Order: sequence, then structure tokens, then C-alpha cells
Amino acid sequence: MELSVNIDHVATLREARKEPFPDPVQAAFEVILGGGDGITVHIRQDRRHIKERDLFLLKEVLTVPLNIEMAQVPEMKEIAIKVKPHQVTLVPERPEEVTTEGGLNLKSAPGIGDHIQELKDHGIRISIFVDPDLEQIRLAKELGAEVIEINTAAYSKSPDDVELSKIKRVAEAAFELGLVVHAGHGIDYHNIHGIKQIPQITGCSIGFAIIARAVFVGLRNAVREMKELMG
Ligand code: PXP
Repeated sequence: MELSVNIDHVATLREARKEPFPDPVQAAFEVILGGGDGITVHIRQDRRHIKERDLFLLKEVLTVPLNIEMAQVPEMKEIAIKVKPHQVTLVPERPEEVTTEGGLNLKSAPGIGDHIQELKDHGIRISIFVDPDLEQIRLAKELGAEVIEINTAAYSKSPDDVELSKIKRVAEAAFELGLVVHAGHGIDYHNIHGIKQIPQITGCSIGFAIIARAVFVGLRNAVREMKELMG
């Protein structure tokens, strides 16, 4: 299973003091040295952490795939087309939210089909962050997504068999539809155990738990420890 590390919170720390450091680019190299398979960043409309500069620098220097999470709005589409990351993950975004609060509701996302097509026309792979809901998975496929990232927030809050079986059912269905299946949100060093048991899930995007652990053991080690648990 591949690990894409979300390094937003390195930029959050930088912005807390409006200093040029710590730099997400340096963090990305530490992730790679720790065995991370990819880098994820979320460019938010309020630019509270990651900024355009970070995207261009990361795209230029990275030797692993860059995944950019963003809202389905024209401004972000233009940025993605300029940066040309390996993958864009479309997420919902509410201005005051602390973190992404749920999957994108594809039943009410006007214009998303054209939005996806335009990004794909520029060679960008499209992932959609969705709740573990079969209808959303089918819509993601119909709309042209190549990847889905299953929202694991509910499972991470109560990591029991009920929540895990919802993720498993959706992962199996998505795999049957030919989608690449990823998972993310709230995954940590404990609950990764359940996610690992679902063979259809080939990648995870993990941020907060790794950056929090890095405060004590360093980012390279924090990534290495997570990779060991992912097997
Ligand atoms: N996936 C998506 C779509 C997200 O919005 C986030 C949070 O930025 C993550 C994964 C990572 O979540 P966490 O920081 O809880 O690991």
C-alpha cells in the first residue's frame, strides 16, 4: 500500500509566524527519505497554509507523485492547469472549516463533469474524495474520475467493524468498476490496521498523525514508522 503524506501542517506552522520556514519542500524530501511514496497538499481558497509558490516548487523538485487537494472552483482549476501535478483530488471546502468535513456530494456538484474533463485534458489524473456511499462511487465513475479516495473520518472516530465494513463494501464496488481505490482522513498509527485489511485500497493519504508524531521523532522517522505499519 502506498503512502502519500499530506504536509499542509508544515506550512501551517510556517504561517503561524509568517516566517519562510519550516519549508514544505524540505519536508517533502524528509518524507521521501522516510520511504513515503507521494506528497499531498491542499491549496485552500483562503491560502491558510499551502500557497501557489509551494505548488510550483514541489512540482519542480519532486521525484514522487504530487497530489493536490482542491475545491471544484474555476480559480483552482486554473492553478492546477498551470502546475500540472500528477493528480488532483477534488474535495468540498467550507471557508470556516478546520479540516475537510466530508466527501464531495456528486449529486449536487454542478459542472463537475466538464471540470474533470478539462483537468484530464491537461494530463492530470482525477481523484474524488467521497464518503463510503455506493451511489457516490458510481457517480464518480460516470463523471470520469480514475481514482476515489474513501473518506475514513467516521471510521477513524470509531474504528469498529461497522464503519470498517462500510469502507470495505465501497472499496470492493469501486475496484469492480475499475477505479483506483485510496483512503484518507483521520488515519493514524492505530487505525491503519483496519484499512490495511482491505486489499482493494492501494493508497492512503495521511497528514495530521504523521506530522504530529514528527514533532517527537522527526518527520523521516514518523513516515518510516507508518510505512512499516502499512506493510
Ligand atoms: N484526504 C483528504 C481529502 C483531506 O482533506 C485530508 C485533510 O487535509 C486528508 C486526506 C488527510 O487527513 P489527516 O490530516 O487527518 O490525515
